[in-house]
Amino acid sequence: MWPRWCRTWPPTCRSDGLGGWLSVCLGRLGEPRDEPGPPDTGRCCVPRTIHDTNGAFDLVVAGADAPVWIVTTVAEGRRAGCLIGFGGQVSIEPRRFLVNLSKRNRTYEVAGEAHYLAVHVLPEESGALAQLFGSETGFELDKFEHCEWHAGPHGLPILAAAAGWFVGEIMERHDFGDHVGMVLDITDARAPHPDISPLRYSAVADLTPGRPA
Ligand SMILES: Cc1cc2nc3c(=O)[nH]c(=O)nc-3n(C[C@H](O)[C@H](O)[C@H](O)COP(=O)(O)O)c2cc1C
Repeated sequence: MWPRWCRTWPPTCRSDGLGGWLSVCLGRLGEPRDEPGPPDTGRCCVPRTIHDTNGAFDLVVAGADAPVWIVTTVAEGRRAGCLIGFGGQVSIEPRRFLVNLSKRNRTYEVAGEAHYLAVHVLPEESGALAQLFGSETGFELDKFEHCEWHAGPHGLPILAAAAGWFVGEIMERHDFGDHVGMVLDITDARAPHPDISPLRYSAVADLTPGRPA
């Protein structure tokens, strides 16, 4: 079992490959090792040295402890959804929100045919729902058979356990690398109760993503 810091999201050390892992071994143990290191899961974010920019970046982002979201969509009768951390508002007027989906997720595949996405904020006690949407993949399991939902605007699956949600039309798609950003023009929303605390990254950092990034 690899330690938690080697399994967390985001997967920023992936491009370093074996060389990156060997330098970790050298840095930590002080001498070369023959072992190949962990499989390239794409999720190793070890700060290789105290000055490692990617590692420090990861720690800054993790420390900010932003809310996580569940994004759902539907296209040609195919429903999909996954947990995301890479999401945020990018304009006030008009209201715009950026959702970033990994190219390896089924949600990305279905979103490729979709015109709308739904974005849900979760109450902090939603660990089981986050696990369903973050650690399972729609390539293997119909997540919507394991949670309560109803068809909302544009037929989008709206999760009953969500604290609040909004729906947006996909205006633009931007290829950022291993993720594609989808800019949403907000068309409908339901506000959460003001006393609800949202589920944050720190509560789900131990989850193993259902798909490698
Ligand atoms: C804490 C955490 C954050 C995640 N953030 C994202 C993200 O921003 N974008 C993304 O596409 N996947 C993200 N994932 C991974 C997906 O939720 C996961 O691979 C999911 O199983 C994909 O399901 P699908 O194949 O049905 O789409 C995250 C997973 C975890 C555990």
